[in-house]
Amino acid sequence: MIESTLVLIKPDAFAKHYTGDIIKRYEEAGLQISAMKLLQMTPQLAAKHYAEHVGREYYEGLASFMTSAPLIAMVLRGEDAIERVRQLDGVTDPAKAVPGTIRHDFAESTRHNAVHASDGPESAVREIHIFFNETEIYI
Ligand code: PPS
Repeated sequence: MIESTLVLIKPDAFAKHYTGDIIKRYEEAGLQISAMKLLQMTPQLAAKHYAEHVGREYYEGLASFMTSAPLIAMVLRGEDAIERVRQLDGVTDPAKAVPGTIRHDFAESTRHNAVHASDGPESAVREIHIFFNETEIYI
């Protein structure tokens, strides 16, 4: 099934100039960029995006990191995009990620883990519309 998913290239990976390498992984896998922007998250945006994590013991550290510097937000589209992007990313903790995945190759910790990707169809729709309006999505 053709799906769209939200990907964030987090402040750690953007600051280390890994953006091009990470986008190349997605494009070489056949995923299409249908929206993209550079922005810095506000605390309000972080709380909206990570609503299910607010109040957890790691939330303040997560929000502080995600609002600390610019990041890239994009919508990727393609066959089974949600699951395929998560496979390309690897698991949350880079120390446990399979070699060749983005988090294994470009991330350093569970907090500084290079990328975020939607974890299912409902969260993909919700998250895409936090970052983009319909006129900014091209495919
Ligand atoms: S996932 O992908 O939703 O299953 O990952 P999960 O393990 O539930 O973690 C959700 C997000 O919280 C971040 N996280 C943390 N940040 C800072 N410190 C600690 N200890 C920590 N633990 C989890 C993790 O990077 C996930 O961010 P996203 O952006 O969803 O990948």
